[in-house]
Amino acid sequence: AKVVLAYSGGLDTSIIIPWLKENYGYEVIAMTADLGQGEELAPLNEKAVKSGASKIYIEDARREFAEEYIFPTLKAGAIYEGKYLLGTSMARPLIAKKMVELARKEGAEAIAHGATGKGNDQVRFELAVKALAPDLKIVAPWREWDIRSREDAIDYAAARGIPVPVTKARPYSLDRNMWHLSHEGADLEDPWNEPLDDVLLLITPPGKAPDKPTYVEIGFEQGIPVKLDGAALDPVALIEKLNEIAGKNGVGIVDMVENRLVGMKSRGVYETPAGTVLFSAHREMELLTLDRVTLHFKEIVAARYAELVYDGVWFSPLREALDAFVDSTQKTVTGTVRMKLYKGNCTPAGAKSPYSLYDQELSTFGREEIYNQHDAEGFINLFGLPLKVRALMEKKSGLR
Ligand code: ARG
Ligand code: SIN
Repeated sequence: AKVVLAYSGGLDTSIIIPWLKENYGYEVIAMTADLGQGEELAPLNEKAVKSGASKIYIEDARREFAEEYIFPTLKAGAIYEGKYLLGTSMARPLIAKKMVELARKEGAEAIAHGATGKGNDQVRFELAVKALAPDLKIVAPWREWDIRSREDAIDYAAARGIPVPVTKARPYSLDRNMWHLSHEGADLEDPWNEPLDDVLLLITPPGKAPDKPTYVEIGFEQGIPVKLDGAALDPVALIEKLNEIAGKNGVGIVDMVENRLVGMKSRGVYETPAGTVLFSAHREMELLTLDRVTLHFKEIVAARYAELVYDGVWFSPLREALDAFVDSTQKTVTGTVRMKLYKGNCTPAGAKSPYSLYDQELSTFGREEIYNQHDAEGFINLFGLPLKVRALMEKKSGLR
């Protein structure tokens, strides 16, 4: 029988290959979804086969990731616990979807992944598989084997002739795609430790960023970023280009202690350069184009959406329903935002839209036929009525 393994080329997923063969008798088919990991991908073909996989598939899923995962989350304004832009969380369901497709094509009976039993990722992979292919078996070696440390893993690999990287590995657990890069573990486990500059792989430390601000204009079409400085770009190119520009200016570092779904808190440092600029710019576009109550209701949806993505419940009726709401709000979220990037800061510095609800004349002077100041008196009388009734009651009853 066959198993499809989510393969990254790292030490952990490499030793899972012989482990699956020895403990389950499976033929192992490695699968890597290219979500924009860049140079990480090149050595994978050779590595997977050397580790004992019968085949490896590397699927370019960058465009799908941008259009069907990143942009919906951006449009929703979903940010977990006010800080985390969900770069790993939204990648997992897509990887699982690609694994399911491959399992069908290869006639595999199971899916395996290298997430530990202590984290969120196991939940995300497995919920997606349950939603898409309830018949597939799931194997999570980290919950079964007794490998506990990097040293254990190295010994296990060495005993089976699996090449272990000779370069001194960074001490951090890393997850990378075109949207973000995450760092966890080692000295970061103590939230009192400020991350050292060399944790950062994408972003220039703000103190070393240019002394002059960089301006960049983002063009939105129904909530989706489609232009950078006036030039139309496909989603992948746009995000990659903006990563570069924002990264140079020190923009996009998030350092946080977060609540994992499995009950514990963990500390992560995330690099999300383009994402940080796009979220801020998108928000600015909405401030100009959405009416007050829709905007406020959308904030509630955003919080729920973030939780849902974090929790790995991507393939669900709730997400589809929230997407329908969000898409309906985005019809007029079209226009251009000018962003100013400077030494780690990212601030909106101008916005315009053909659907702007901001009426310069309305908020300043004139236009008596639309806004009559006399109307304000009656409005305030009725809006303030409950406060007045309460105050009268308190007086009458002796409460004050
Ligand atoms: N804490 C983040 C999350 O739960 C990042 C997880 C990173 N995963 C990894 N395998 N390194 O989404
Ligand atoms: C893991 O434990 O596999 C990575 C961290 C997480 O999933 O939260």
